Amino acid sequence: MATLKLGVFASHGGSNLQAVIDGCKNKIFDGKVCVVISNNLKSYALERAKNENITCFHISSKEYPEQEKLDEAIYNALKGSSVEIIVLAGYMKKLGDIILDEYKGKILNIHPALLPKYGGKGMYGDFVHEAVLKNGEKKTGVTVHLVDEEYDTGKIINQCEVEVKEGDTVETLSKRVLEREHSFYVETLKMISEDKIKL
Ligand code: GRF
Repeated sequence: MATLKLGVFASHGGSNLQAVIDGCKNKIFDGKVCVVISNNLKSYALERAKNENITCFHISSKEYPEQEKLDEAIYNALKGSSVEIIVLAGYMKKLGDIILDEYKGKILNIHPALLPKYGGKGMYGDFVHEAVLKNGEKKTGVTVHLVDEEYDTGKIINQCEVEVKEGDTVETLSKRVLEREHSFYVETLKMISEDKIKL
């Protein structure tokens, strides 16, 4: 299969973005991050993109209050960089219909739990790990899934388990899961690039 042309969306720290960039640079898989998009001007993801000389855009509903205009701006940024696959990495906004239609089946998201458990609206970041600990789960995990119009409901394409250890706190658990996310997103993209997972 040809080089995966990726557009990565991130709202915060962008550590998953960095893992994907490094996976491309180190030739773990055949891919290229063509553009980075963030809705948050202060997102460190934008700094990471600049440090790597990757085209990046801050596109938010503050400048584009109308969903259609926002979508158009995102669409133009993606097409301008020839993006074929969208990789959501801690992107805190829902995508609009134009993007969902144009990239149907080609939008990935990573979630820090074993979906369909611990997903849906409000289940993000530490809320996920808090709920996992509260329920006394012995294992949690990481899920990569396709994105549809709802939160965390798209088809699961890859999943791995992460142990919940005795005495874990939200902090220790989230750190363990996030570390696994980094390698797992790259492993999943490698499988896609080798046609072992078909989008
Ligand atoms: C990750 O836990 C990811 O699963 C979730 O948001 C977090 C993003 O972290 N969707 P980072 O910005 O990649 O560091």
